[in-house]
Amino acid sequence: MTNIGRRRAVEYINGLGGSVLEVGVGTGLSLQYYNPDLQVTGIDFSAEMLAKAQRKVDFHQLDQVVALRQMDARTLDFPDNCFDTVATMHVLSVVPEPERVMSEISRVLKPGGKVVITNHFMRTKGILALFERISAPFANIIGWHSDFVIETVLQEPTLTVEEQKTLPPLGMMTFLVLSKNLTSGRLGIAAAVVR
Ligand SMILES: C[S@@+](CC[C@H](N)C(=O)[O-])C[C@H]1O[C@@H](n2cnc3c(N)ncnc32)[C@H](O)[C@@H]1O
Repeated sequence: MTNIGRRRAVEYINGLGGSVLEVGVGTGLSLQYYNPDLQVTGIDFSAEMLAKAQRKVDFHQLDQVVALRQMDARTLDFPDNCFDTVATMHVLSVVPEPERVMSEISRVLKPGGKVVITNHFMRTKGILALFERISAPFANIIGWHSDFVIETVLQEPTLTVEEQKTLPPLGMMTFLVLSKNLTSGRLGIAAAVVR
């Protein structure tokens, strides 16, 4: 079920080209799908996960993966405006302080760049919405917070929704693309001051 989201996200990114930061890369399940002409950096909090990802990179000789680094998504150790695309798959509903993570994602993204997300978001209608509310206390068993609302990731003022689609099966996961406003970041502030 989660692989459909990964494949959809990477397919989209392959059409963009350039540099990619994958936040919460885990064991690197997405890495082999990236086109060889991309420059992919992966970060994760867990050194154990990263070691598994590195083994995949070595085994499959994934030259598009330029770095795997241990890092907290809440305090990304990269300069402002440095990646063409930031991807995060099945991460936002498990990280602490997802709003802070979104703000960091936007900071490191170039103006006009895309944030590509796949995640489960709580449904608001229907029988499955009821089931998600009931199952919310069992996040540790089902692997994600079933009551995680999409508004949590849409609060970052520098990002605008470009695409939002539910994925099969049953629309459990959502594919979401946000773009960073051209006037955001330091250049945007300077422009605003001049005006
Ligand atoms: C459900 S896994 C998803 C992994 C991968 N994206 C995938 O699709 O298989 C969530 C990942 O987020 C990472 N993570 C959780 N909190 C984090 C944080 N604060 N900073 C960076 N990574 C974090 C976990 O270590 C884990 O690898």
